[in-house]
Amino acid sequence: MEWTAEHYLISDDPHRLDRDLVHRFLRDDSYWSQGVPRDVVDKSIDHSLCFGLYDGAEQVGFARLVTDRSTFAFLADVFVLPSHRGRGLAKWLCSTVLAHPDLVGVRRILLGTDDAHGLYEQLGFAPLAQTERFMDIFRPAPEIYRR
Ligand SMILES: CC(C)(COP(=O)(O)OP(=O)(O)OC[C@H]1O[C@@H](n2cnc3c(N)ncnc32)[C@H](O)[C@@H]1OP(=O)(O)O)[C@@H](O)C(=O)NCCC(=O)NCCS
Repeated sequence: MEWTAEHYLISDDPHRLDRDLVHRFLRDDSYWSQGVPRDVVDKSIDHSLCFGLYDGAEQVGFARLVTDRSTFAFLADVFVLPSHRGRGLAKWLCSTVLAHPDLVGVRRILLGTDDAHGLYEQLGFAPLAQTERFMDIFRPAPEIYRR
């Protein structure tokens, strides 16, 4: 599917993604997956519902939903390149992701963020209401991220 606004386009076509750009951003410029190897990014894209944000032919943003397209989704790896920030593009990208037909019926969508709570609150996200019901395993720095 495709969505357009002025000269920007959002597409859920995985073949259109600039995997070099996505990998470079996640490896070098994200605070959550520093050093991530290319094959990890490739595999994550292959098994997720991914959205590219494009200015003409050039990819300028990305969002990835880890989901079974039925019951659960986790929103991850959201970014907009610096020169395109502050124009409402992340809000458009994330609201497009959340309105995707594959998410109809999905009862819980989670995400993690260090500092963009204000962005996601505008899209309906709220802090976990019953934190005691959730547990996690977190391995912040696996060996393969340090090669
Ligand atoms: C966060 C990011 C995706 C926002 O992209 P953007 O296109 O500039 O965002 P938008 O223009 O759609 O607006 C974001 C809205 O969220 C708010 N916001 C809250 N926290 C924010 C944050 N940490 N960064 C950017 N905006 C934030 C902004 O104030 C703005 O609200 P407003 O329109 O009411 O003023 C972008 O800054 C980015 O790629 N940052 C680096 C990667 C990152 O941190 N990703 C999020 C991981 S959870």
